[in-house]
Amino acid sequence: MMSLTVNIALSCLILLFTSSFEGAIPTAASKVPAIIVFGDSSVDSGNNNRISTVLKSNFRPYGRDFYGGRPTGRFSNGRIPPDFISEKFGLKPYVPAYLDPSYNVSDFATGVCFASAGTGFDNATSNVLFIIHRLPFMKHMDFHKSAMQNVIPLWKQVEYYKYYKETLKSYIGDKKSEYVIREALYIISLGTNDFLENYYSLSTNTRSRYSLDQYQDFLIDISERFVKQIYHLGARKISLTGLPPMGCLPLERATNLINGHGGGCMNGYNGVALRFNAKLNGLVARMNEEMEGIRVVFSDPYGVFLQMIRNPSSFGFEVSSVACCATGMFEMGYLCDELNPFTCRDADKYVFWDSFHPTQKTSRIIVDNLIQNSLHQFL
Ligand SMILES: *[C@@H]1O[C@H](CO)[C@@H](O)[C@H](O)[C@H]1NC(C)=O
Ligand SMILES: *[C@@H]1O[C@H](CO)[C@@H](O)[C@H](O)[C@H]1NC(C)=O
Repeated sequence: MMSLTVNIALSCLILLFTSSFEGAIPTAASKVPAIIVFGDSSVDSGNNNRISTVLKSNFRPYGRDFYGGRPTGRFSNGRIPPDFISEKFGLKPYVPAYLDPSYNVSDFATGVCFASAGTGFDNATSNVLFIIHRLPFMKHMDFHKSAMQNVIPLWKQVEYYKYYKETLKSYIGDKKSEYVIREALYIISLGTNDFLENYYSLSTNTRSRYSLDQYQDFLIDISERFVKQIYHLGARKISLTGLPPMGCLPLERATNLINGHGGGCMNGYNGVALRFNAKLNGLVARMNEEMEGIRVVFSDPYGVFLQMIRNPSSFGFEVSSVACCATGMFEMGYLCDELNPFTCRDADKYVFWDSFHPTQKTSRIIVDNLIQNSLHQFL
């Protein structure tokens, strides 16, 4: 009896010791040991802070509802979807940006973000002039060369991912790092910029080279090659995120208004999103059949997002047609200025934070919905 108790106590001690010794290193107990993110501003937690681009948000009022009221480079008043997903999976309540010098491999072992605001599936999207070409009065603003987006294209995010894998390996060893890479949940979210800032932009000639259907297939092909690439690097659990109802972004409504068509949603763009999402869903089904051991889900934010926009009050919002920041019609990035007297006080009343991005509250509702409809498979 005595020795059994001692034994149990001893093994508990050893367990305690090893688990505290391992600190942040993920254990086999968590089904998803890390969240790994690729994409655009819908999921960028601050990589653009470290590169030369005009597409930044590491200043107030961005982040005013984040921990410590800190602007991090997230295009939101607070947290963004991967942060909430990470929390739901019992990991950190945020996913740090790979290029943020305040984090290192011990943080990245449970979550890392390679996303870059402004990027797309199409290499060309990361070099187009963003929003500046859209609105007549903005053409006169002095942006010079810095107005070039120059953001991190998807292929380069994969290069960072390769460095990350190496660093992780030397930090926690071969076996554990293989485990993390294999069991991690990969969140992939991009595509809006390929349409709104590239295909439909007057500053590119993409539309003269591809029909809409061809361009969509071109992007689907890139996403397939991308998934295969990370699969060959070890990824198995993957969430491909669909497009939002992008014709209802306040910037699109404002453009509609300026062009004399009222301030409603651009229904054509919503149709483009629906069509693209259907193709992405088809790709997901095909990859699950063809690729050994992979589990890809299609995470579709479209439906719940549109419900929030159409019926804001049933979600506790007051406004969905304009954003919280400034006039709420066209400002984002540097145009979303702390001193602007029009910026709303309570972002929880708004579906959109700036003219292109949801508020923290909207992101939380979207994630709750995605967990219910697709991501629960990995919980
Ligand atoms: C990571 O950063 C923490 C805190 O800044 C530090 O204590 C730790 O030694 C660093 N770890 C590595 C592996 O560099
Ligand atoms: C994008 O650029 C990278 C690097 O130059 C290249 O390897 C890749 O094939 C390009 N992708 C497409 C679809 O052109």
